[in-house]
Amino acid sequence: MTTKITFTRPDDWHLHLRDGVALAAVLPHTALRFARAIVMPNLKPPVTTTALALAYRKRIMDALPKEARFEPLMTLYLTDNMTAEEIALAKAGQIAAVKYYPAGATTNSESGVTALPKTYTALAAMEEHDLPLLLHGEVTDSDVDVFDREKIFIDRHLNEIAKRFPKLRIVLEHITTQEAVEFIQSAPRTIAATITAHHVLLNRNAMFEGGLRPHHYSLPVLKREQHRAAVLRAAVSGNPKFFLGTDSAPHSKSAKESACSCAGIYSAHAGIELYTEAFEQAGALDKLEGFASFYGADFYRLPRNEEKITLIKEAWTVPQEYALGDGNAVVPLRAGQAVAWQLLT
Ligand code: NCD
Ligand code: ZN
Repeated sequence: MTTKITFTRPDDWHLHLRDGVALAAVLPHTALRFARAIVMPNLKPPVTTTALALAYRKRIMDALPKEARFEPLMTLYLTDNMTAEEIALAKAGQIAAVKYYPAGATTNSESGVTALPKTYTALAAMEEHDLPLLLHGEVTDSDVDVFDREKIFIDRHLNEIAKRFPKLRIVLEHITTQEAVEFIQSAPRTIAATITAHHVLLNRNAMFEGGLRPHHYSLPVLKREQHRAAVLRAAVSGNPKFFLGTDSAPHSKSAKESACSCAGIYSAHAGIELYTEAFEQAGALDKLEGFASFYGADFYRLPRNEEKITLIKEAWTVPQEYALGDGNAVVPLRAGQAVAWQLLT
């Protein structure tokens, strides 16, 4: 039995760091484990310009622990009105990607896109400048069942975007369904997907275990077992189109434990350990390094990291909560329960 593994330091290709005191509270968890992260732009107000993204980047750098070596990769929040000029500025300003949220799909997505054709000018500019498009791939129509929203997004929108902009590099973020897996497998090389730890470890039963479990509610919502298994198989398959993105999304305990709980699971505190558990359970620890440390960097055309990390198989208990600043706390995934692997620091 493997009890220790050493591999190239991973990157997190989908992360919510928030801002202010919450940023300072959560950032050390990510910076300890990951060399780089794609930082989501859904702040309030959203990060819609390169100037805002670079200012946010500076706040992240200022909040980093002194000893940390971590590089935030910044993204812009796509809106109906984004211009080709803003895309050119983004490319020149080293922005890594542009994020599409359908308006109203998830946390802080009120300013998101109301109809895809409104973004075609921006998408054409992104294709020209080779700036990747990151998709929150869910439709928001209230008549579509919440468990079907990813599949319908692929049918109605993703096929169309891929056809219209054949050279545009696209990441379908946090995939949750067998249909998404199959779409990515048969898509051109320009299209990839990120996979979270919670979507490979949990199925939708986890939201209803003995009662309503708001800390297992995120978007896209957990799906039935058949889909969890398909997403896990994709993650451990060694196919470079699938790579790590935690979608760690901290919310205060009070916002989660509410009559209208907001979506988001916090997993940065065990951001690589939870995947290690899932890969071990699947008998695929040998596939972890590619998924966590190589394929995302290759897709973004960035150098692979050189540093290594080591994990040992020694269980630890996750705290019930972590401080989030301003008297708030965040309840992490697995709170009060064991994680089988730990990072050697
Ligand atoms: C994210 C958040 O809280 O910012 N929530 C989530 O459930 N994943 C937004 C998102 O990525 O959908
Ligand atoms: Zn997200």
